[in-house]
Amino acid sequence: ATNRTFTMLKPDSVEKGYIGAILEKINAAGFKIVAMKMTQMTTADAETFYAVHNERPFFGELVEYMTRGPIVAAILEKENAVEDFRALIGATNPADAAEGTIRKLYAASMGENAVHGSDSDENAAIEGFFHFSGREQF
Ligand code: CMP
Repeated sequence: ATNRTFTMLKPDSVEKGYIGAILEKINAAGFKIVAMKMTQMTTADAETFYAVHNERPFFGELVEYMTRGPIVAAILEKENAVEDFRALIGATNPADAAEGTIRKLYAASMGENAVHGSDSDENAAIEGFFHFSGREQF
């Protein structure tokens, strides 16, 4: 079925000038952009967004990274969006990511891995509404 996923082009992608190239890959893979903006997460935002990871040793580093500069947040629509987008971005660690995936092409490391993709339909909705009101979701 047609459904939606949520993505962020993380601060490293914005810093390196990869917004256009990554959006091109997203469009070429057949995703329709139904919400998009540039924004910067506060510490409280990042702590809430990544609350599931708050016991992990890398949590502090993750919050620092995600708040250090602007991101591009977007909601994407396609058949099988969540699963297909995770395939397009590749493994969390770019060293393990398949050839041609966004992380293989644009991510520096496991910590700075260029893009986010929701891991379920339920989380896609939660994460989408974290960044966008209903009237900003087209
Ligand atoms: P993502 O899977 O989008 O969301 C959780 C993030 O935590 C992940 O991307 C990485 O940016 C980060 N992360 C996951 N595992 C590690 C790790 N072992 N060390 C540092 N950062 C990590």
